[in-house]
Amino acid sequence: MTQNFRPIPSELKSGLIEVASNIWTIEAKDYVHYRPPMQPRYPYTHRSVVIRLNDNSLLILSPIQLTPDIRTEINALGVVKYLVSPNHLHHLYMGDWQQAYPKAKLYASPRLVPKRKDLTFDKTLSTDTFEPEWIDQIEQCVFGSGNGWFDEIVFFHCESHTVVFTDMIMDFEPTIFSPISRMTTRWNQMYKNTPFGVQLAHTFDRVSLRDSLKTVRTWKPKHLIVAHSPWLCLDEEEQVANFLDSAFNWLEPQPFIVEAIMTATRFSMLLFIVLPIHALIVLIADLIYPRLMGQGGSK
Ligand SMILES: [Fe+2]
Repeated sequence: MTQNFRPIPSELKSGLIEVASNIWTIEAKDYVHYRPPMQPRYPYTHRSVVIRLNDNSLLILSPIQLTPDIRTEINALGVVKYLVSPNHLHHLYMGDWQQAYPKAKLYASPRLVPKRKDLTFDKTLSTDTFEPEWIDQIEQCVFGSGNGWFDEIVFFHCESHTVVFTDMIMDFEPTIFSPISRMTTRWNQMYKNTPFGVQLAHTFDRVSLRDSLKTVRTWKPKHLIVAHSPWLCLDEEEQVANFLDSAFNWLEPQPFIVEAIMTATRFSMLLFIVLPIHALIVLIADLIYPRLMGQGGSK
């Protein structure tokens, strides 16, 4: 089935785009450069999501760099009341936003509090319990490994039926990568899929993730947003359902013996193949290749 992704408009003043009623994205104009464990450093396109609650307050998911233009448009939408990090990786600009909006509450995702000791968080969103401040407006579900490697909170804006994933699903634009990065991103399933590293992190916790995915399906989302994609969102319930089926294909339950063999195989691959080869690629991509090309090291 053809997937009709809504394109990002080419002309944007600040980066804010309305997805549906009372929900917007903020598109970052610059890349964030990040190196996933034992991989080359990639340029990531990224976005925030802004949700306006019934009392006209705003909740910002994954705050990106706050520019004067963004701030002007945000202030026109409402009062920033909540700054939320959906996982322990999307926190870079929370401090800047907190300075700009000192009355806003900071909500941490699991593992972020010990990582950002410089910030004072009001709460850690580590459970599926609905927040009283946004009950009946926003639902949330933890995709948690419980092993401390990677957890993410997936949000659902009830009014617009929009589900927001952060890093559980990624889709990159391959043309922005070097040939080495194109190869490693394909190998790591970073195109309309759960990145392979995240899949491996959940090797022993697939049952819990299946339950989380079931919860997402019960929401019957009509729009889907992910943090890293060259498109804005996916519309229509059937399109979103099919996309989720495909992206989470790796979670399909198997007979016990098959599941056990797959788990052992994944774990062995991680230890003996993926990590050693990635170490070699990192060495070439970040250390040797830039020197050969006269680029003077990684960013
Ligand atoms: Fe991310």
